[in-house]
Amino acid sequence: MKVLVIGGGGREHALAWRLAASPRVQRVFVAPGNGGTARDARLHNVQITELEALADFAQAEKVALTVVGPEAPLAAGVVDAFRARGLRIFGPTRAAAQLESSKAFAKEFMRRHAIPTARHATFTDAAQARAYVEQQGVPIVVKADGLAAGKGVVVAQTVDEAHAAIDAMLPAGTGGGARVVIEECLAGEEASFIVLCDGQHVLPLASSQDHKRLQDGDAGPNTGGMGAYSPAPVVTPNVHAKAMHEIILPTVAGMARDGMPFTGFLYAGLMIDAKGAVRTLEFNARLGDPEAQPILMRLKSDLFDVLMHATDATLGGVELQWDRRTALGVVMAAAGYPQAPRTGDAIDGLPADSEELMVFHAGTVQRDGKTLTAGGRVLCVTALGDSVKLAQQRAYDALAGIHFDGAQHRRDIGQRAIKH
Ligand code: AMP
Ligand code: GLY
Repeated sequence: MKVLVIGGGGREHALAWRLAASPRVQRVFVAPGNGGTARDARLHNVQITELEALADFAQAEKVALTVVGPEAPLAAGVVDAFRARGLRIFGPTRAAAQLESSKAFAKEFMRRHAIPTARHATFTDAAQARAYVEQQGVPIVVKADGLAAGKGVVVAQTVDEAHAAIDAMLPAGTGGGARVVIEECLAGEEASFIVLCDGQHVLPLASSQDHKRLQDGDAGPNTGGMGAYSPAPVVTPNVHAKAMHEIILPTVAGMARDGMPFTGFLYAGLMIDAKGAVRTLEFNARLGDPEAQPILMRLKSDLFDVLMHATDATLGGVELQWDRRTALGVVMAAAGYPQAPRTGDAIDGLPADSEELMVFHAGTVQRDGKTLTAGGRVLCVTALGDSVKLAQQRAYDALAGIHFDGAQHRRDIGQRAIKH
């Protein structure tokens, strides 16, 4: 059967690679793909938000299953567009994707369904938002409503910082439309908790942890994610049970009750405090990137079979098999990332992929037999090992042999897990 993966990042390379491993899959297409998916899959030159063109392609190629990587096509309604034509696709509808595409929707949903999260208020008026900050005090978190690719959140340590964030997100005289969510600043350790949903049943994936800041020790600007590993030791059996019973299951039941059954990957960003209390920082309506790379490296089950069950609403009887080892991925980013990534640098020294080491491509392109950088996050060097330390060592050993001008990476991916 034929499969289509929508997206062009490292997550989509990992999805395409795993799907291609299924004996039932003859061909994987990736739209638009990247320089790495060119090996495991065929590229199709359609942009991710050209919904009708994507559906035309799936129809013409008789694609049996489409899997959506990034949030933009979900928020634009790609699942609705495919379903309207009777095409099988795994992802949430546009309505259900609001859990990610609107922070105001997600916060209101959590309040209504008593799902633990930071206290919040939503504003369209800058003066009222500023007054709320003064009344609540700092630290406080200011978030732009709507998709912002991880750049719409300011954790303000001073009232001035919070006011500046409000003014940037609610420019005076824009005449409404823009909204900010202001919320309590939570303390603790973050983890990514991602599950598969078929509208009714839930199947948790292995836990993981991302590293969102650019520099070692969680310094520097926020990025899409500079590295991840799975499993995350902070997700103890107790935390896992709480995440399922207090967050995931009520969310899936609540979405069904509200008439928007959630199908797709549901990603809860968790904050776990020192006492083991678990709160929701955010929802994403998709797999994480780079979390998907280590998670999928550990998945032993046939991903195609699992996603066919997920789109048949028969996830209830499925169990996932995981490699017991740790997988750890380190992102290599381009010069100038995240503000202004430079493209066109030649990449040398890419190692051969193996069962224990995969270099997933993100911002790359193949040109005249060379691999060139073509985006902010370029590669995710992902390795399996019997411990976090061994996975880390294998990933960094491989990374040391890869070169492109201006490459940036963190040297401390996995340190938190080693401390546990
Ligand atoms: P979000 O896009 O909502 O996940 O926010 C991005 C990052 O901002 C999160 O990964 C956290 O590190 C931080 N953050 C968001 N909300 C809060 C909060 N209420 N308290 C503390 N940190 C937060
Ligand atoms: N790595 C964080 C995300 O995918 O949102």
